Amino acid sequence: MSGAAAAAVADALQTRGYAVVRDFLTSPEVAELVADVRRREARGDFRPAATGAGPQRAVRPTIRGDRIHWLTLTEGEAEARLLARLEALKVSLNGACFLGLVDLECHYAIYPPGAGYVRHLDRSPAGVERVVSVVLYLNEGWTADDGGELRLFAEPTVDVRPSGGTLVLFLSDSLEHQVLPTRRERLSLTGWFRRRSPLMGGVPA
Ligand code: OGA
Ligand code: MN
Repeated sequence: MSGAAAAAVADALQTRGYAVVRDFLTSPEVAELVADVRRREARGDFRPAATGAGPQRAVRPTIRGDRIHWLTLTEGEAEARLLARLEALKVSLNGACFLGLVDLECHYAIYPPGAGYVRHLDRSPAGVERVVSVVLYLNEGWTADDGGELRLFAEPTVDVRPSGGTLVLFLSDSLEHQVLPTRRERLSLTGWFRRRSPLMGGVPA
């Protein structure tokens, strides 16, 4: 992503609370990541995603129907390149918005047909470090009939088709959003640019 494109993302985040980058990845790059997802899936790495915090934490498929796999080690070149590009974007956002982003946590998500994720915010009391949410879609040839749009409750509300290579960024603590029920298996990588934990900063030595 060019410096100008990163500046446009920073501007959109500040003025509208979200940004959509249509061709963050090319189709061959998306295909390489899909192959990584399939390898991880074949190994049994994906688990149903839970919602709620503390004792309330549970899998509730009517609220959230995806299976996820947290990225700890990169699988190969494609994942390493993607993380390097997201890292460069983080540096640009820090330069433009003074957000103090320090790292990125991310997981792959697979929504089977019929699954969605009801309206929610990404910054839970347990995750106050999350500042900017990023979602990268890995679905080639997505059509309007496939459903599964990301609905962003901005002014005005906008629906984003989860087409391969599209990257969406939004403010984790203020932008409510939902995944409309999908009619086709829907793949994505979701991440959060995080700031330092408030508990870790400013504590007297
Ligand atoms: C999430 C989420 C949106 C999407 O994982 O918290 O809202 O479009 N994902 O997959
Ligand atoms: Mn979310």
